[in-house]
Formats: sequence, structure tokens, C-alpha cells
Amino acid sequence: MTDKTQSIHGQWSSRFAFILAATGSAVGLGNIWKFPYITGENGGGAFVMVYLLCVAALGIPIMIAEIMLGRRGRQSPINTMQSLSKEAGADPRWHYLGWCGMIAGFLILAYYSVIAGWSMAYIVKDFFGGFINSNADEIQRLFENLMASPLQQIFWHTVFMIITMQLVMRGVQNGLEKAVRFLMPALFVILILLVAYAMSSGAYDQGMTFLFNPDFSKIDADAVLTAMGHAFFTLSLGMGAIMVYGSYLPSHVSIAKTTFFIAGADTIVALLAGIAIFPLVFANNLEAAAGPGLIFQTLPLAFGHMTGGWLFGLLFFILLFFAALSSSISLIEPAVAWLVENKNIERHQACVWAGSACWALGIGVVFSFNIWSDLKFFDKNLFELLDYLTANLMLPLGGMAIAIFAGWMMKQSHAEQELEIPAKGFQAWQFLIKYVSPAAVFLVSLHVVGVL
Ligand code: PHE
Repeated sequence: MTDKTQSIHGQWSSRFAFILAATGSAVGLGNIWKFPYITGENGGGAFVMVYLLCVAALGIPIMIAEIMLGRRGRQSPINTMQSLSKEAGADPRWHYLGWCGMIAGFLILAYYSVIAGWSMAYIVKDFFGGFINSNADEIQRLFENLMASPLQQIFWHTVFMIITMQLVMRGVQNGLEKAVRFLMPALFVILILLVAYAMSSGAYDQGMTFLFNPDFSKIDADAVLTAMGHAFFTLSLGMGAIMVYGSYLPSHVSIAKTTFFIAGADTIVALLAGIAIFPLVFANNLEAAAGPGLIFQTLPLAFGHMTGGWLFGLLFFILLFFAALSSSISLIEPAVAWLVENKNIERHQACVWAGSACWALGIGVVFSFNIWSDLKFFDKNLFELLDYLTANLMLPLGGMAIAIFAGWMMKQSHAEQELEIPAKGFQAWQFLIKYVSPAAVFLVSLHVVGVL
């Protein structure tokens, strides 16, 4: 099917392909690695509630807005914002939003790739029987050894970066689309298996209570900011990834329906990961607030003791790697699309440039887990700093700007024309992006800088 308007980079072959790719972008390390450990650090239930609320009230409306802007602009986020601000008669400086997002994606990928590298290292560890019959101490030592080794981590980070760039080089239909076809269903199945194992661990109830029983005395402004930031991070919002994917979306596809599907799938995967992990944490007297190592110190215990654990472990880390891959390609796509459009270079060259720069920054992230662990900026090592800066600040603020642009700058008739949803739904959406999203992000930010 040909479209009146189409991006120069190509287009998804169908609505299904877009759903897969956008779900692939959303479901990633954020759901399986990050969600459990930040939930553990922030006391459980209440944090989960705030996160779910943010997904519903901010994430879904902003995702609709971001896809819509992308599809209307049909270019990299920077150029999309430029032409849309022209069309709307708004200040041309709106294109800085695209810049900010491109930089955020770049900063995220630098550490994302390092963590994805851990999952690759764990594929090999499982393969050689590294988890079989290990106790909690041994599993912990395995993780600490990996953290202490810059060389191992740099190796895997490099391999991951090369694979990512290879995929991005192949472009929209060949690279991005094919990569995500079978992953999501497979990941889902293995998570269900892990949940079943967690049910038999003896601490299932305790895990569920921790996750779903809110104790609001456990959270403060910082926890609310983390929950809000994570809603943006996990849905890939606020930095142009979803916008650039939207720019490859055929004109006839319903944006709202697609969004509900993506956000639903993303949330289910995160909750399943939590349900699989926390019973194991409590059954083995592990620390819920163990930090970024949480899944690497809990799940191998399950794999080491369950029947068929060797195989499931292998499958799990392979799928985690693929989930990370289908997200990482979307983190760098805005930068690559922009380089191709503005610097007049070929796609593969753009990949080499963007990928190398990201890789170099990732080396610093590797060091922040060992030789530079004492090097702190604002009390945070480089990994923590990049994470805070992007997930807690750049993505929510980027999301807020997207909401303001779609709600206040763009002509209402244009938004209606893109979304084609019944009047009631449209009004609800407009209310959320005009008032609720900007106000929520603004208030939480004020709280954090200490004004409120
Ligand atoms: N959503 C991805 C995850 O949960 C991370 C991501 C963030 C991807 C921003 C693209 C853009 O792992």
C-alpha cells in the first residue's frame, strides 16, 4: 500500500509491524531489569501504584501525542518538530525538543548497552552450568566478579553495540522489523514459567504483598520522581524514539488503539517480572534494595534449582538480550535518521559515527562499576548520573514539551485528523495532555528542586 506521505527512510509494512517494533522498543531492560530493582529500592507497593498511575494518566496520552507528531512530521524528531512548528505557526525553537531527545537517547544507550552486555555474559555463564546448584552467596559472587572486571564488561558492551549498529544499518523493514517478530511472544511465555516457579518458592505471598500492598509512608518526592521517570522510560517516551517510529507508520492506522496495546503489553511484562523476582528475593533472604544487580542475583538462583533450569536460564537471558536489542535500536534511530537527513551521509556511515561515540561513553559507564566507582558527580557515579539525568529529568521534561506542543500549539483540526477517534475520547485525551501531564511533571519537578 502506498501512502500520500511517507518518510524517506521507509515505512513499516503493516500496523502489526509497527506494533511489534514499538512494543519491542518499550519492552526492554526497563521492564525486566530496572522495574524490579527500583521497586525494591523504593519500598514496593506504593511505588508500583504511583508508577501505574503515571503510565495511565501521563504515559498513554503522551504516547498518543508522540506517535501523532511523528506520523504527521514524517522525519527525524528534530526536523519533524521544525516542520510541525512551521505548520502550526509556532516558534521554530521547538525543534530543540528533537535535539534534547536525540541526546537523551544517546546517553541512555551508553549505559543500556553495558547492562545488555551483562545479560550476554549471563547467557555464557548459564551455558557452562555456572548456576547449577549454586547458593545465594555463590550467585552473588558471580555477579560481583563480573562487576569487578572492566575487560569482561567492555567486551560484551562492544559486542552488543556492534550488533545494534548492524541492525540499525539495515534500515526500517529489514533490520528493525524482522528483529522483533518472534521475541515478544517468547519472552512472555518464559516469564509465565518463571512466575509459576516463584509461586512454588514458599514466599509467593510475601512477594505479592511487597509488590501490591501500598505503604505510602515508604515513598517521598524522590520516589515519586523515579516512578514518574520510569513511566516515561519504560514506554520509550519523551526522547523521540516513539516519534521516529511513528514517522514510519502508515497513515490509515489507528494511533489510539495501537497505544493501548503497547502500554498494556509493557505494563504486563514489568509486573510479571516483579512477580517472578520478589518471591525469590524473600525466599532466599536476599536484599530487595540490592540495586542494579537484583535480577542477576535472584533469577540464576531459580535457574540453578528448578528442573530444566539450565535451559530456561539460557532462554531467559537470550530473550533479555533480544528485548534489550529491540529497545536499543530505537534509542539510536533518531540520531541516525537526523544524520542521514542533515549531514548528507549514508545510513551505514551515520551508524558508525553515532555508534562509536555511544560506545566510548559506555566505557566510562563500565568503569563506574569498578575503577571509577568512587568518582562521583552530585553524589552519583557515572552510571547513576546518566540514569538520573535521562530517566528522571530529560524524558519527563521532553514528554511534557510534547504534550504542550500537541495540546496547545498544534491546530486542533490537525490532531483530530491524525487521531480519528470519537469526540469523547478526543476530549479526554486533550484534557490529559493540555492540563494533567504538564501540571504533573511540573509539580514533581518543583518538588525535586525543593520549591514545593
Ligand atoms: N523502553 C525501554 C525499556 O524499557 C528503554 C527505552 C527508553 C527505549 C527510551 C527507547 C527510548 O527498556
